[in-house]
Amino acid sequence: MPRASRKCGSTAGSAELIPTEGATVTTAYDLVRYPSWPIPETHPAALAVFAALYGLSFVPHYGCRVLEIGCGEGVNLMSMAVTTPGSEFVGIDLAETAIAQGRATARAAGLGNVTLVAQDLLRATTDLGRFDYIVAHGFYAWVPEPVRLAMMRLVGRSLGPDGLAFVSYNARPGCRLREALRDILLDATQGLEDPSEKLEAAHAALRRQIGLWSEADPFQHALAIEARDMLKRPPALLFHDELGGTYAPQLLGAVVEAARAEGLEYLCDATPELNAEALWPSETFEKALPSTGGDWARFEQISDFADMRRFRRSIFCRADRGIDRGFAPERLDGLFASAEIALVKQEGEERDGFLLRAGNGAELTTRDPAFAELLAKLGLAFPMSLSLEGIGTYPELARGLLHLFVSGIVTLSTAPSGFVLTPGERPLASPLARTQAAQGETHLASLRHKPVHLTDAGARAFVALMDGTRTRAELARAMADQPGVTEEKAAARLPEGLAEMARLGLMMG
Ligand SMILES: C[S@@+](CC[C@H](N)C(=O)[O-])C[C@H]1O[C@@H](n2cnc3c(N)ncnc32)[C@H](O)[C@@H]1O
Repeated sequence: MPRASRKCGSTAGSAELIPTEGATVTTAYDLVRYPSWPIPETHPAALAVFAALYGLSFVPHYGCRVLEIGCGEGVNLMSMAVTTPGSEFVGIDLAETAIAQGRATARAAGLGNVTLVAQDLLRATTDLGRFDYIVAHGFYAWVPEPVRLAMMRLVGRSLGPDGLAFVSYNARPGCRLREALRDILLDATQGLEDPSEKLEAAHAALRRQIGLWSEADPFQHALAIEARDMLKRPPALLFHDELGGTYAPQLLGAVVEAARAEGLEYLCDATPELNAEALWPSETFEKALPSTGGDWARFEQISDFADMRRFRRSIFCRADRGIDRGFAPERLDGLFASAEIALVKQEGEERDGFLLRAGNGAELTTRDPAFAELLAKLGLAFPMSLSLEGIGTYPELARGLLHLFVSGIVTLSTAPSGFVLTPGERPLASPLARTQAAQGETHLASLRHKPVHLTDAGARAFVALMDGTRTRAELARAMADQPGVTEEKAAARLPEGLAEMARLGLMMG
């Protein structure tokens, strides 16, 4: 086997084009590192929300088994594992370098509930047991058909009776445009082996095409927008996602057919926005109904054609479950909600109704004082979530919250927040984030199951120091070891720094 001994190029984004020292190169993923981050929508507590909304029982996040297929370095699993020591996490991936790096991180972070296995799905012989949640993110549309079939077989064989499987993929028809760009990129990079040279040629081809395409031609204009978007992406993503060996965007209908062949059924998409029709069928749905034969997945496929959908996050369950689509307020009972929102104006202040503003700038007005009060409470608690216990007895509040969930303003979860906003006298940061910070990673996994980009080396050193053994005064002294920081300066900055790390969801005590 050839050894990866050279640097593969510079990085314009956060992704690294540097192989792990001494690694045996066997796949493109061994050669060029793929960023491994928490993927919020794959968390069991996020997936289970959809089971709850559609009347299905589910296994709670704190006592479940999770499998991730094509887990890369496994940070997504590790980030789940930090807050749920009673659950078990298994990841498989073909790339030995990624698995070796992941194992080292899990060991250093003390995560005994994470097992990472270097395995080719096509040759998987080990029986890994039953799983309550199975995740395959960024996998299905980037592997050849036999691997896709093997993946669905594994899901069909291993998904527990109350299990949920998450499969994300580039979708057709929207990705047809990107396929046109891929043709251009493959042509431009023909015969090139070196990742840096390949990326350079790909970037040059994109820039050249943008210069050639006419704004007046709608098709060329659309391609130019795509190409500009591609130029902005981290190089490692472009290298693997568009320049990789397989690029096979999928029709939802074909993915559903493959899942059904393995005894699975389509539940919904993990993108809240795509659940509006299932909760509150509109005229669009009524009109499309005759051509769907009552098959929900057919309806969503038709809407993909209408919307030129380009990405899907499909959730599957076992075929024998009684999926019940439609709005039922009691199904929100026991969930947790969070929202970055603030009450801007009370009713009567120069307007009808209460005015609220969300973190994304969206404004909403309600005349219901109880709803305004609930949203204001959520806003004050943010980023912590609040329990929705008992909300089922207030159908209008439940309906309003669900509408905001579908609009992307409210986040729902079956788990309470796993972080603290007021760190203790001996501040304790997430062991995973500390490990990553000590490894020099710039993206840390937060206890909110999100990546946090810490560009400042001082901030990362601060996170690495917070292992629960140092008092605040000792932390300030240790921070004074950083270049250009005096002890007084460090002590003065400490409360603000701690509050910031807590707000980012990095603190557990
Ligand atoms: C695009 S990356 C996605 C990584 C991660 N799931 C994410 O979304 O960040 C695809 C991953 O699938 C793995 N993979 C590809 N073919 C495989 C196979 N036959 N068996 C197991 N893993 C495979 C690659 O090594 C790579 O880590």
